[in-house]
Amino acid sequence: MIRHEEILVRRGCRTGATVIMAVHSTVLGPAIGGCRVRRYPSWQAGLDDALRLSAAMTAKASIAGLDHGGGKTVVVLPEVSVDRDLLLEDIAEVLETFGGRYLTGPDIGTGPDDMQVLFDRTSYAFCRPALTGGSGDSGPATADGVLAALLAGAAHVFGSSDLGGRRIGIIGLGSVGLRLAESLVEHGAALIAADIDETLHTDAVRLGAQWMSPGTLLKTDLDILVPAAVGGLLSPVVADELSTRLIVGPANNQLSDDTVADRLHARGITWIPDYLASAGGIIHAIALERHDHTEQTVVPLINAIGATVTDILTESARTGRTPLAITHQRAADRLGSSPDNAACEPRRS
Ligand code: PHE
Repeated sequence: MIRHEEILVRRGCRTGATVIMAVHSTVLGPAIGGCRVRRYPSWQAGLDDALRLSAAMTAKASIAGLDHGGGKTVVVLPEVSVDRDLLLEDIAEVLETFGGRYLTGPDIGTGPDDMQVLFDRTSYAFCRPALTGGSGDSGPATADGVLAALLAGAAHVFGSSDLGGRRIGIIGLGSVGLRLAESLVEHGAALIAADIDETLHTDAVRLGAQWMSPGTLLKTDLDILVPAAVGGLLSPVVADELSTRLIVGPANNQLSDDTVADRLHARGITWIPDYLASAGGIIHAIALERHDHTEQTVVPLINAIGATVTDILTESARTGRTPLAITHQRAADRLGSSPDNAACEPRRS
């Protein structure tokens, strides 16, 4: 069940885009979560995405040890193309109404320049460019955190974190996926890449990766599968057909529903919860913008995701519980009793 503190849906008066902001929890502090801008089949589908993504952000911030809750913005673009500046004004207007209880950042369809515009109008945005005092693109740190999780996962599953010759399939060569793909190749992986966008084929070739359609990749024998595109990839049917030992990637909401974690576990496939693996971006942004960290001093904080993964997989092996169940529990423990608790007042840190 998903319970949120606040959900605001407003049709932007300048562009007609539907701006949805969902604050799931402020129990640990102001909610954070990116601003996703894309087309959806309907605004209700966008709302659905915002509800699930914001709840996942609460868990993500909690398991990462941050004093923040979870929120998310989903902007459902209309059929006609819209002016970017007007769109950002529509978004800023809604962001402002939260008065700092919700802070946004980049996500699919937005980047540091957009965050600059939102910051200038509201001061409630992370990840504006480094040149103007922000922490910049959160993508590289997200990719580095996933790599730390993947190396820890490989050490647990294969007894070694050496990726030399390992067949790793990555689905999604967006900014995070591509950076991760480059790191995996540097680590000697035999990489197979897939994306629904055929034009990204050239990136795969440049990396020396094999190229396939996502559907074919899911039917291929792999050591590790890396979901790096939009969510919902792992359905019960896919989970039953996959041939891999480990799944870890930056895509949010990878499971079509939580029972898929049980199916994967029963098949001996280790799935590392997405919100645990993908926290590098928010860890980086908050450390640099709120805690005086630098690009150097933040590295161990991002790599600590690996130690958490090792810990959770060890507990999973000992107890037979799924990594998801253990991760959920740990995230919930920090929130008092349940990630679904609502805060009356944001807790001051
Ligand atoms: N896309 C990031 C996430 O959802 C958004 C973000 C990055 C939010 C950095 C705040 C700071 O994890």
